[in-house]
Amino acid sequence: MVTLLENPLRVGLQQDRIPEPQILVIFGASGDLTQRKIVPAIYQMRRERRLPPELTIVGVARRQWSHEFFREHLREGIEEFGNGIGYEAIWDDFAKGLFYSPGDIDDPAFYQSLKSFLAELDDKRGTKGNRVFYLSVAPRFFGEATQQLGGAGMLAEPSKQRLIIEKPFGKDLASAQVLNRVVQEVCKEEQIYRIDHYLGKETVQNLMVFRFANAIFEPLWNRQFVDHVQITVAETVGLEGRAGYYETAGALRDMVQNHLMQLFCLTAMEAPNSLDADSIRNEKTKVLQATRLSDIDDLSQCAVRGQYSPGWMKGQSVPGYREEDGANPESTVQTFSALKLEIDNWRWKGVPFYMRTGKRMPKKVSEISIHFNEVPHLMFQSAAQQMNHNVLALRIQPDEGISMRFEVKTPGNSLRTRSVDMDFRYDAAFGQANTDAYARLIIDCMLADQTLFTRGDEVEASWRLLTPLLQAWDAPTDPSAIPFYEAGTWGPVEAEFLLNKDRRRWRRL
Ligand code: BG6
Repeated sequence: MVTLLENPLRVGLQQDRIPEPQILVIFGASGDLTQRKIVPAIYQMRRERRLPPELTIVGVARRQWSHEFFREHLREGIEEFGNGIGYEAIWDDFAKGLFYSPGDIDDPAFYQSLKSFLAELDDKRGTKGNRVFYLSVAPRFFGEATQQLGGAGMLAEPSKQRLIIEKPFGKDLASAQVLNRVVQEVCKEEQIYRIDHYLGKETVQNLMVFRFANAIFEPLWNRQFVDHVQITVAETVGLEGRAGYYETAGALRDMVQNHLMQLFCLTAMEAPNSLDADSIRNEKTKVLQATRLSDIDDLSQCAVRGQYSPGWMKGQSVPGYREEDGANPESTVQTFSALKLEIDNWRWKGVPFYMRTGKRMPKKVSEISIHFNEVPHLMFQSAAQQMNHNVLALRIQPDEGISMRFEVKTPGNSLRTRSVDMDFRYDAAFGQANTDAYARLIIDCMLADQTLFTRGDEVEASWRLLTPLLQAWDAPTDPSAIPFYEAGTWGPVEAEFLLNKDRRRWRRL
């Protein structure tokens, strides 16, 4: 499909800032992320003229591919996972800037040859020494690749050379600290872009706008008016062939430490002084430092893990986690986690934040809901025979939007109430597709804007907070002691108890 934005006849449409010509070097370029997400997102931006025509991509991986093979492989990815090729002329032009350079990540000679190749490309394509190195490799190579790039003098110019590091950044506090040290020895913090693709989502960025561009919500956003907050990130997918990684990660490392913590920070942090990267990251770090698991002495009171067993998804039977290809048949890894957090600061003292995430849940849905206090005395009969909280729900995906739940009188002679929703939907209001999260973040990195990337101390604060739980859940466990939930359900029953014992319940999604 050809879009209005790529129409060569298009004139005078407003443009976002366009990065300088540069070379994006992707380490791990033969992997799924490059073919399914990174390159389709970049190509779409190219179609929308949000990237310079000189943009050059060099894929690095061990496999002995040719430039031609790499181009074809990426084209297939764009056709299958992206928005298609559009005008052939645009693809032809884009493909001229795609190159592949096979090599070993730990071989210093390879970095020397890569360096000369990039210099040649600078001459040929006018990329002026600007580089983004994107480490989309297994986490154990992050340190090695950074040191090698540093050793070859490829990160010596902070204003022109930047490094994107995929998640997970470390596997616990100690390893994140070591990795921070290694990376910071080679680069300045201003060159380091720790990616969390949730921050690239339009609705996640809107959290700040919603909170700080509206006068009506902020006065209510505190312990005086909020009873509790829920954050849910539910996925329908299972292991998706990633056993090697997931067995060592689990939901806590794969989702909670990064994506859910970012949603948490943006919901709970104080207003930053300005929109610059450090003002925002200071506030996120501060709120993480004030946060703890609600019962450190008895973790079973504030954390629940679970693993999916065989079940049904959309009428199809699906295997349990332990039967998935490559998974350990006695695995104790968690595919579901639910936590209760408390924040020790003036705004939130006493307001629990509950979060949950899981694979093989009935629906793909991510949402943050703010549950306000009940009225002090209810004079009306409620249809539900109970008092209902007003709930503000920020729908992150899919069905992006915001809704406010409140009580109204049901028509009729008696004064009975019922809950209804006032709803804002992105698609109805704006009628256009959102910018892909990866595209947004890669462009921001090329523009040297770190606002939507996590800082070293912020990542460490998030690992620190989860440390007691990581230690408890990493400890050898009897395989039969893990709570199971059937695939296609909302997690183990223990997750319900986590809220029920506080006389609350998860919002039905
Ligand atoms: C990734 C996790 O970071 O996020 C995956 O490694 C998960 O396990 C994915 O499926 C979810 O991302 P999204 O954008 O589909 O919600």
